[in-house]
Amino acid sequence: MKLTILGGGGFRVPLVYGALLTDRGEGRVTDVVLHDLDDGRLRAVARVLAEQAAAVPGAPRVTVTTDLDEALRGADFVFSAIRVGGLEGRADDERVALAQGVLGQETVGAGGIAYGLRTVPVAVDIARRAARLAPDAWVINFTNPAGLVTEAMSRHLGDRVIGICDSPVGLGRRIARVLGADPKQAWIDYVGLNHLGWVRGLRIAGRDELPRLLADPDLLGSFEEGKLFGADWLQSLGAIPNEYLHYYYFNREAVRAYQQAEKTRGAFLADQQARFYEEMRDPGAAALAAWDRTRAEREATYMAENRESAGAGERDADDLSGGYEKVALALMRAIARDERTTLILNVRNQGVLSVLDDDAVIEVPCLVDSGGAHPVAVAPLPEHATGLVCAVKGVEREVLAAAESGSRATAVKAFALHPLVDSVNVARSLVEGYTDVHPGLAYLK
Ligand code: G6P
Ligand code: MN
Repeated sequence: MKLTILGGGGFRVPLVYGALLTDRGEGRVTDVVLHDLDDGRLRAVARVLAEQAAAVPGAPRVTVTTDLDEALRGADFVFSAIRVGGLEGRADDERVALAQGVLGQETVGAGGIAYGLRTVPVAVDIARRAARLAPDAWVINFTNPAGLVTEAMSRHLGDRVIGICDSPVGLGRRIARVLGADPKQAWIDYVGLNHLGWVRGLRIAGRDELPRLLADPDLLGSFEEGKLFGADWLQSLGAIPNEYLHYYYFNREAVRAYQQAEKTRGAFLADQQARFYEEMRDPGAAALAAWDRTRAEREATYMAENRESAGAGERDADDLSGGYEKVALALMRAIARDERTTLILNVRNQGVLSVLDDDAVIEVPCLVDSGGAHPVAVAPLPEHATGLVCAVKGVEREVLAAAESGSRATAVKAFALHPLVDSVNVARSLVEGYTDVHPGLAYLK
């Protein structure tokens, strides 16, 4: 079985390969093709993978290429993990937004819109080629902003593209753990958009255990989201929000913390990864050790500014390894081997949230089998959450329209309608600022 990874020179590819190495089952991946625009990055990552595979008999073969069509042809699965504009682009997204006093996070607010405007045309090109060159392949989208990018691709691939994120899984796991339950036995009632969802219940053997957590301030204060949002706010909401909702509910504090930070997240990661890829130019360097050191530092500093502004302290050791590669592997196995499972994924709505149309990509628990991911019916969201979901989906639709038409006015509309952009004039300045720094936005006229 052939797995193609687009963005194959990316820093997180060894996580995926590490997960593949643990899979000894029938029908496992035998060939991994890494595609990237940058040959140097491909070679660096291939060295890490070679060291990972060294002691593993039957490890999947790895080949690298800079030819996209060659990478796609004959693929059974395609993981799309590209980063248009690189981490420097992410740092620019943050800087331009913060200069206007608004958030520049890569998936939320102005930064997410800028990143989406750059990424959608490239993702659409990939989707069109995949539909032509690998019509039976399943495309798993890792690229952020994951919901928006998955929706853009779904217009060409239908339900053959599925978006993934590890944050709902991590959230469910943490809640189950504080309740003393086995996360594998828990049904997590979660719904929303990517990075904009809420856990409204957690059922174990049919019984909802979330009220027990919400009633106990000590338990609430004992895990990441409880520390980030505070027990009072979670009790008021009657739900546990995805950690990315911190950017909405505590927007002022988050913007201030990012403005005061020595480096923004994108700038920090750009420097950190530049050092890693530079180190890999030395043929004598220990690739896996250098990669692992860099990974550990990245994970330990994840959302550090948010946690600091909330007084939440360090991350729990158990939360450090994200696990999105595990979600991807579980998804791929369920489809390839018809191993029925339940995963929270980004798929087309198909009536689950009645306030959105059927084609809107949402994040929702899905039953997965060889026929793909089937969203499960869930209870409607309360009005405040429905309002946010609809507003942000409306913005995503303007981003998709701007990418399709190349209309600058539509791009301004996308920024202006976002709940975290507080003036049409700010939206205009953002479009100015972003088109000045990003060559990938030259299509906006
Ligand atoms: C979480 C999010 C992902 C994000 C990742 C890394 O897992 O769900 O969407 O890519 O964190 O974040 P970072 O800030 O380290 O790039
Ligand atoms: Mn994510």
